Amino acid sequence: MRDMLEAKTERIRKDIEAMAQFTASPGGGMTRFSFSGEDRKTREYITSQMEAAGLTVRRDAAGNLFGRREGKRRGAPAVMLGSHFDSVKNGGAFDGPAGVVMGLEVARVLHENGIWTNLPLEFAALVEEEGGRFGGGLYGSRAMAGLLSRESLDIFRDRDGISMARAMKESGLDPDRVGEAVRPKGSLRAFIELHIEQGPILESEGLDLGFVKTIVGITQREVEIIGRADHAGTTPMDMRCNALLAASEAALFIDRAAREAGEGTVGTIGRMEVYPGGSNIVPGKVFFTIDVRSADIERLERVVNTFGSFLKDMEKKHGVTVSVKDKLTVPPVDLCLEILGLFEEEAGKLGYSAKVMQSGAGHDAMIMASITDAGLLFVPSRGGRSHCPEEWTDYEQIKKGVDVIIGTVLALAEASS
Ligand code: GLV
Ligand code: MN
Ligand code: MN
Repeated sequence: MRDMLEAKTERIRKDIEAMAQFTASPGGGMTRFSFSGEDRKTREYITSQMEAAGLTVRRDAAGNLFGRREGKRRGAPAVMLGSHFDSVKNGGAFDGPAGVVMGLEVARVLHENGIWTNLPLEFAALVEEEGGRFGGGLYGSRAMAGLLSRESLDIFRDRDGISMARAMKESGLDPDRVGEAVRPKGSLRAFIELHIEQGPILESEGLDLGFVKTIVGITQREVEIIGRADHAGTTPMDMRCNALLAASEAALFIDRAAREAGEGTVGTIGRMEVYPGGSNIVPGKVFFTIDVRSADIERLERVVNTFGSFLKDMEKKHGVTVSVKDKLTVPPVDLCLEILGLFEEEAGKLGYSAKVMQSGAGHDAMIMASITDAGLLFVPSRGGRSHCPEEWTDYEQIKKGVDVIIGTVLALAEASS
């Protein structure tokens, strides 16, 4: 029998720290939007690490980065492992990179120990999971699962009005070829992701790891409310068409509707912009996002549908016009129980404590589950903080997650000793 293979904490630390340098908001956490200069520098770093681990690197038609290690069995489906490397605005250094670094470290451990698996392995660094730049998110995995249309690349735009298609062109990709990123069913054996928990459960229960059984369903929409801009001093209160009044009611409505739906349903307006945005102008237009999540599809749909009727009422009440764009609709997803069982077995062998849990955050694994067996492993987040500069996970905790994944990958990809 082979000796237990082990990840090295120091290499994990080095990778995370190196990637954390590539931010557009130094001193204000990580802002690494897809197809930006920071994206390019991070890709260069990941590529260099993949090559040093003996992997063959390529970028797919959507902009995802893969390092491949061939298997002994020709034409066999690949085991893919990794996560995303984009970030939210002013986020942390671990959301996404922890899983990319997991892949790099697994590759290094196999390389230095001369381990060859029967099935090929693909180490993935995926783009635009957060939707931080274009909204919606999960693009890299949606492209692989065939859930990303060519049209959506023109429709989804960043804050400067740059479409995703244009941003792709500027970084050397051809948006018309995005369909080539699709991974046909049967071409993958499994997808395994490591991610920080982004909540307080593991830390508060003193546990090393979380094995995710279900990921909540998510609906994201963009809403535009058009009123009429007028002089704030001369327009009487009953002669205004104030877009912000309707938007303010919407913020309260979403909060109330999610609470009433219960069972952990959440609803958030995380971004709101008021136009033209002057202290002495009645708001003529408001743009905002909504994000609703629930593990129960009926509760999720109820909140989203009642919000739709609420907006119609707002049109009548405030004399505004409302338009809504769907950015993301993913139902709740159950992950692969066989992989969860392997996680449990490996953690048991290593003496790491763990529990089975649900994810309230969206992850590429939820999309990959539509084309292959998907597994998601959580490591603890300090204070449960995430999507903020304070986000932190001890490197030693990430190492434990990587150790469990090494054993899991060897089992799935059929390592022979
Ligand atoms: C990603 O972090 C999400 O849950 O939206
Ligand atoms: Mn995130
Ligand atoms: Mn993430």
